[in-house]
Amino acid sequence: MTEVQERTATPVDARLFRDVLGHYPTGVVLVTAISRSGEPIGMIVGSFTSVSLEPPLVAYLPTTTSKSYAVLREVDTFCINVLSADQELLCRRFASPGDDKWAGVGWTPSPGGAPVLEDAVAWIECTTESEIEAGDHYIVLGRVRELGVQNPMAPLLFFQGGYGRFTMSSVVAASTPDLIHAIQSAEKARDEIEALAARTGVAVDVVAAAGQDLVFVGAATGADTPPSVPTLGTRIPLMAPLGEQYVAWAGEAAAEAWIRRAGVSDPEAAERLRDRLRLARERGWSLSRLHPDDELDFYQTLRDYSDGEIVPAKERALRDRIVAYIENYDPVPIDPEGEYAAHSIVVPVLGRTNRPLLNIRLVNLPGPASGEQVLTWVQELRRCAAAVASRLADDHSPRSQRLGHGVASPGWG
Ligand SMILES: Cc1cc2nc3c(=O)[nH]c(=O)nc-3n(C[C@H](O)[C@H](O)[C@H](O)COP(=O)(O)O)c2cc1C
Repeated sequence: MTEVQERTATPVDARLFRDVLGHYPTGVVLVTAISRSGEPIGMIVGSFTSVSLEPPLVAYLPTTTSKSYAVLREVDTFCINVLSADQELLCRRFASPGDDKWAGVGWTPSPGGAPVLEDAVAWIECTTESEIEAGDHYIVLGRVRELGVQNPMAPLLFFQGGYGRFTMSSVVAASTPDLIHAIQSAEKARDEIEALAARTGVAVDVVAAAGQDLVFVGAATGADTPPSVPTLGTRIPLMAPLGEQYVAWAGEAAAEAWIRRAGVSDPEAAERLRDRLRLARERGWSLSRLHPDDELDFYQTLRDYSDGEIVPAKERALRDRIVAYIENYDPVPIDPEGEYAAHSIVVPVLGRTNRPLLNIRLVNLPGPASGEQVLTWVQELRRCAAAVASRLADDHSPRSQRLGHGVASPGWG
């Protein structure tokens, strides 16, 4: 007895406790009820579990300080709503402070009157059986009264502090038609890319979008500089600041997703990124000053990320890394008389209606270089991109539709 007490008294570091327990995944439910004052009330809970079949019992564990639970415990009937993978935004809304959480949320009453959310995977109506105090939480036992599956799709999952969804391992690899198309396009661009590398003496690489990533699909070696680091097939996430010259042409939804994926929530920082995209579009080229060592490090981080399981903690580490590069992509005006430590310059190859098809990059630029040299590289790249654009258009569209394709118009005259 004494021994047990001593062991229980050993302090456990709160962060370690949360971190270790965060490695156990949970589903996410919204516990709902109609409050005594007649309002719908909802609390997001991960600690939901089935307890007993005979009698039918379930449980969830609210913290003793929860204001939502203080309201829930005043009424007898509540409903567990199992959230679907598509209800992450709704979950975030209910889990953060705010008054009007139910605005625009569709629900119908369960037989006992508690809210059943539209589109919830399943609902379980209960009456409170008992409430057990357990440290800083209660264990609330609910006797199941009615239940049903209403939307049999993948549930929302919570793991290592991040949201995700259940996926089956498949016996057949998913086909990626956009990637295959990108590889075929890069292959058609090969002569132009090699000519560019030969003319400039600088390494060239080619990326294309596939799903939510950019993928390296082509490369050519220049005589005077080290070759491009990423091997063909390397994927980089389309996340600010990476892939600016692709996103600048891919429409507003793509731009917003690019900002959101980088976790940029400050409205001013988001607006600066939108400005940058506007400028990238006006110029039709972007320049990165990322140090070559940082680029090497970045691709190592990417390789570590892609090795083995991708989990939220790894994803956060990669995102932090990428976001730290933001200032390396700041668009600086190029003065022909000035001197610049440019690492790479990228231009888009645009298809019909200015749709981005590929990005071509001069990389590992020798430097520091004069502004005049930078502008010459830009011109070389643009010439190459225009040639690639017309080559791709030759394959894809009737001659009459080809006018107006090519590369973005230069902002520098
Ligand atoms: C995924 C997720 C799971 C959660 N699980 C629980 C839980 O099991 N118990 C709990 O008391 N709070 C849990 N919370 C926090 C509550 O939803 C809520 O934010 C907290 O109770 C504070 O709000 P309140 O004081 O207004 O109730 C969870 C939040 C999230 C995002």
